[in-house]
Amino acid sequence: MPEIVPCKGPLGGRIEGLDRCRAQETEIAALLNRALAEYLLVVVPGERMMPHETLAFAEAFGQPRTQLLRYKRSGEVPEVSIMVSTLMADGSTDKTAIRAEDWHTDDSYFAKPAKATLLHGIEIPSRGGATWFCNMHSVYEALPGTLRTRLDGMRAIHGYDTPRARNRPSPRTAQEIAETPDVEHPLVRTHPDTGRKALYLNPNRLDRIVGLERAESDALLDALAEEARKPEHHFGHVWKPGDIAIWDNRATMHRVVIDYPVSEPRIMQRVLIEGDRPF
Ligand code: OGA
Ligand code: MN
Repeated sequence: MPEIVPCKGPLGGRIEGLDRCRAQETEIAALLNRALAEYLLVVVPGERMMPHETLAFAEAFGQPRTQLLRYKRSGEVPEVSIMVSTLMADGSTDKTAIRAEDWHTDDSYFAKPAKATLLHGIEIPSRGGATWFCNMHSVYEALPGTLRTRLDGMRAIHGYDTPRARNRPSPRTAQEIAETPDVEHPLVRTHPDTGRKALYLNPNRLDRIVGLERAESDALLDALAEEARKPEHHFGHVWKPGDIAIWDNRATMHRVVIDYPVSEPRIMQRVLIEGDRPF
């Protein structure tokens, strides 16, 4: 059986000795899903794969689903988008990468946000470009008890965009706008596999707390984000070509650090796994 080696940090486990072709076998899939729920980030080193192989691997974690933005459903397998975050000479990158520079969890603007996201490194710059992860169980547990009690039961509005985010997202087509009305989620959610509570924050999409004045809501969201920015909750994955990283969007946030050399390609395959309504 493959082995899980914990990463040096508050989350993350590395799988050693896995034949990726066997990921869908019952026992192996169970081990991978247990690792995801326990470590929240699962890294599987290995060779570069074709999109259909990446899709087959991702299926061990659930049902892959297409991205909202149609232009990202590139390539021959629509569920495997090709994400280019190469840094250009004018300082720009793909719009998505600029947004991804701040802490976020993926697709919280959906009523049923993606359970997990898988990235598979195809072209990796010679240095920099780590993806950092934040353990939102430990962020919740670090808050004072009185604050935790106040947050339990609070609900918040997530939207495709919010003025609270530092950068604007890619424009949506009329169809994509119709598919993404604002949604309400609990501010504290329970992980369905482990029963642990996690703070469900997303500075890129979280607009306001239901029932609070804007100023009070902003102040509370800022204070919570401040706890999540403390390095003790973080682990950074430094990419090698061929790596797979899959993370649990129900109890983590992540961000990319755009500190890599200009024009060195940074290209990943990306798969979203269907999730449930947060509770
Ligand atoms: C993402 C994302 C970070 C990275 O794919 O959702 O945030 O390191 N990516 O590219
Ligand atoms: Mn992301």
